[in-house]
Formats: sequence, structure tokens, C-alpha cells
Amino acid sequence: MNRHLLSMHDLSAEDVIRVLDTANSFREVGTRVIKKVPALRGRTVVNLFLENSTRTRISFELAAKRLSADVINFAAGGSSVSKGESLKDTALTLQAMGADAIVVRHSSSGSPVQLTRWVEGHVLNAGDGTHEHPTQALLDLYTMREWLGRLEGLRVAIVGDVLHSRVARSLSFGLVKMGADVTLVGPPTLIPPDAPRWGVSVGFDLSSVLPKLDVCYLLRVQTERQRLEYFPSVREYHRLFGLTRACAAQLPEGSVIMHPGPMNRGVEIDSEVADLPQSLIEEQVTNGIAIRMSLLYLLLGGGGSAGAGAGEEEVADA
Ligand code: CP
Repeated sequence: MNRHLLSMHDLSAEDVIRVLDTANSFREVGTRVIKKVPALRGRTVVNLFLENSTRTRISFELAAKRLSADVINFAAGGSSVSKGESLKDTALTLQAMGADAIVVRHSSSGSPVQLTRWVEGHVLNAGDGTHEHPTQALLDLYTMREWLGRLEGLRVAIVGDVLHSRVARSLSFGLVKMGADVTLVGPPTLIPPDAPRWGVSVGFDLSSVLPKLDVCYLLRVQTERQRLEYFPSVREYHRLFGLTRACAAQLPEGSVIMHPGPMNRGVEIDSEVADLPQSLIEEQVTNGIAIRMSLLYLLLGGGGSAGAGAGEEEVADA
């Protein structure tokens, strides 16, 4: 594996399988009374979250703590960033304090790659602007494989505000890499013009796509990133692209519904649909911890020479 995880393009299909298989070893740790293994004892992981997050930040913190790493949580508020300190000086300060890994979320696309030029530790992209969110894609791939038994040949629709979605980009790249059949569905204004070059199909009519799916993956409408009017009204968006109860009934038996969170209940997904048994939204969150344990373990040297099943020694050594 590469030294950093900045994009799904950093991972080969074999790397993806290795991350998912290693996560399997770590998921069992989360079911124990004492949810801790010694794999990263003495290592320091910094969570540098300069944009808001609930799931990713807490998940990375739990993952690092369950691996026995020392964890520093860093947010803009309360730090010298609020006094105008630059990202470079923040990074050099963390480097000087001996950070082995920096997990970074930032509103500017490309911030993680910039960090790699300033620090010696491993950099993990926890979401940068509208660019990528690779750890979300990996936990989604894990969840799909777990529930549907495979990735190759899966028929997946990613529905909604693809234009502003780093999740849609990373997940599309990951699914295509693993041989899945991906369709992006949304208003033409919210589909990136270069999407066909990602190896995906594009559709504008949700109803015609739903009956052919294994996975219906809803995206949050990102009003905070939309500087223009991309659709006439939220009501119209919900009517054409929201997953209502009637829409969910068009999905084949055995198919699943996913969403990366946070959700706008009543906009891209009806509240009762989010709570259906075939909705995997909470499973995605749970699996996120195991995926981030797997990544920290593999990147920080715990899995240097190990293949699939890495981590079992440390898991057993708890
Ligand atoms: N899915 C996701 O990235 O959620 P957060 O913004 O809460 O981390």
C-alpha cells in the first residue's frame, strides 16, 4: 500500500480486498467487553478536523484508541488556527510533536496532498472539499460485501447531489475498481460533466433505475456547498429524486438502501425509509470503525508484511 491514503486511486483492487479483510479481523474487537488491542501502542495519531464532522471524527478516534494509539483531537476552534495560523505551520507543529499519522478533514480540496509535502507521518484523507472521502468509500464497500456477498457485478445507483459529493467520487472510483456496475442519478445540474469518464452510467429518471438495483445509495443535498440554484425547490427535488416509501417499494427483494450521513430526512430520503430493515445506515457507521482500524494498522506498519487476515495476532493478544 502507499504511504498515505489521499484518494481511492491510491489503492489497487488487491489493496481494497486487503483493507476489507483486515477490517474483518478488527470488527470482532468491537463486540468485546474490553474493545482494545495493543497493535499501535506508543504511536501517535492526530485527528486534524478543520471542517465539521460527527461520524468520521468519532470513528477515527475510536479506531485509534481501540488500537491503543495515543490520540490527539484537533479542531479549528480553541486552537491557533482561529488566530490565523496557516495549515503549513499547524502541520509543522504537529510534526515537531511526533505525530505518526495525521487524519485530516478540510473544506479545501487538495489539503491532504499539500500536508504530505510538509510532514513525515502518514496522512489519511477524512474528506477534502468536493474532492474525495476514501475511508467512507471503503466502509461502504465493506458493508455492501458483507450484506450482498460480493462487489463484482453489483448494480449500484448513487442518487442526488453528485456534483458536490466527495463521497460519490470516492465510492464511484472504488466500485468501478471492484467491478461493480454504477449509475449516477440526479438532476442534470447536479451530475458532474466529466462523470462518464469515471466508468459509470448516468440517468435522470430514478423510477426507471430502481427495479434493477442491488444498492440504492442516497446522497445528502449539500446546500452549504451550493452557491447557485441547482433545482427549483426542495419539494420538487424530493418529488423527483427523494427515496419515498413508494419508490422503495420498487426496489427488488434483497436490495439494500445506504446513505453516508448526515441525512436530510424528508429531502433525499423519507424518514420511514431511512428506518426500514433494508436500510444499512447504522451498519455503515459501525463498520466505519473497523475499516479505520484496518487502515491505521496497515499504514502505520502493523501490517507491513502481512496479507489478508492481518491483525489477527494483535487481536488475539488483547
Ligand atoms: N459521512 C460523513 O463523513 O459524516 P460526517 O460528516 O459526520 O463525518
